[in-house]
Amino acid sequence: MHNSKGLSYLDDEKPRIIIFCGKGGVGKTTCATATAFHFAKNGLKTLIISTDPTPSLSDIFEVNVKGKITQIIDIENLKAIELDYNLIIERWKEKFGNEVYSVISSFLPIDKEIIDYIANAPGIDEEFSLSYVLDLYEKESYDVIVWDTAPAGGTLSLIKLQDKFYKHLRDAARLYMRVRHALDILSKGKREDPLRVIKTWEELTQRVFNMLKNEKTHAIIVTIPEALGVYQTKRLIGEFKAFGIHISRILINYVITEDICNCKFHMERANMQRNYIRILDEQYGKDIGLALLPQLSREIKGIEALKKVESLLF
Ligand SMILES: Nc1ncnc2c1ncn2[C@@H]1O[C@H](COP(=O)(O)OP(=O)(O)O)[C@@H](O)[C@H]1O
Ligand SMILES: [Mg+2]
Repeated sequence: MHNSKGLSYLDDEKPRIIIFCGKGGVGKTTCATATAFHFAKNGLKTLIISTDPTPSLSDIFEVNVKGKITQIIDIENLKAIELDYNLIIERWKEKFGNEVYSVISSFLPIDKEIIDYIANAPGIDEEFSLSYVLDLYEKESYDVIVWDTAPAGGTLSLIKLQDKFYKHLRDAARLYMRVRHALDILSKGKREDPLRVIKTWEELTQRVFNMLKNEKTHAIIVTIPEALGVYQTKRLIGEFKAFGIHISRILINYVITEDICNCKFHMERANMQRNYIRILDEQYGKDIGLALLPQLSREIKGIEALKKVESLLF
């Protein structure tokens, strides 16, 4: 099997962002947290951020990190935050609300309620969280950001949204060029220039793309050794590749290893898993590489359990 030595290659490649993705319950938060712990232990200033609407960082660290970047007690260099969506929406409104209003109101007779309307549209919260990560990334306050994402669908839809947004902006700008003269006469030049605003949005979207496509940004797909896991991995890889995001490993979790196969039940499960691990290896072992994490006898909660996972991954 190729590259089955866990995630230790990350120490050499020194990524700046590591995105953990996969469906719910596969172990994203567990692996993301253990990875963040590993970097912090090696002296890198590390932030772990969760954009999952049902996050569990607070449970693992056994301290409340909701909505606020919080230093993890006893682990130097490690901070954590679970994004609070209400807060993110407020922040977005402050930052972009007036701009959105000024652009749309130059086309249509609307009042400021449009800002709340847009801020509450489905999928928008995810887009806001991307711009939150971008801010942290560009400020370079951390050596590495470990990003524990929302289950599969969420993160991809947010990237898609960005892409659509970017394309629509060009159309909007073209339309504006056509009516610009008439609008200028009507408003006698008092409006904020929508073209300028659209341009800054376009740049923002481009910056998000650059961040995601950067070679120092790694995506790790966490999955399970079952048919469903093989299927979901394929779908995720296809979509990430379409955006040029670098997938650095497929991490297969809950693997039943020989030393825990002491009964018929576990032997059967191990056999079943072996089949799917082989399929994943044939398909991705060479190009991407696999990492395996065995199933442990207990849930992973608290620093001691995290240390155990870290030692298995690195
Ligand atoms: N290798 C493992 N062995 C035992 N329990 C695990 C393992 N990986 C994850 N778990 C447990 O499974 C549950 C789901 O893991 P979690 O990391 O929260 O998944 P996700 O973030 O993908 O939804 C948690 O209770 C966690 O402690
Ligand atoms: Mg999680």
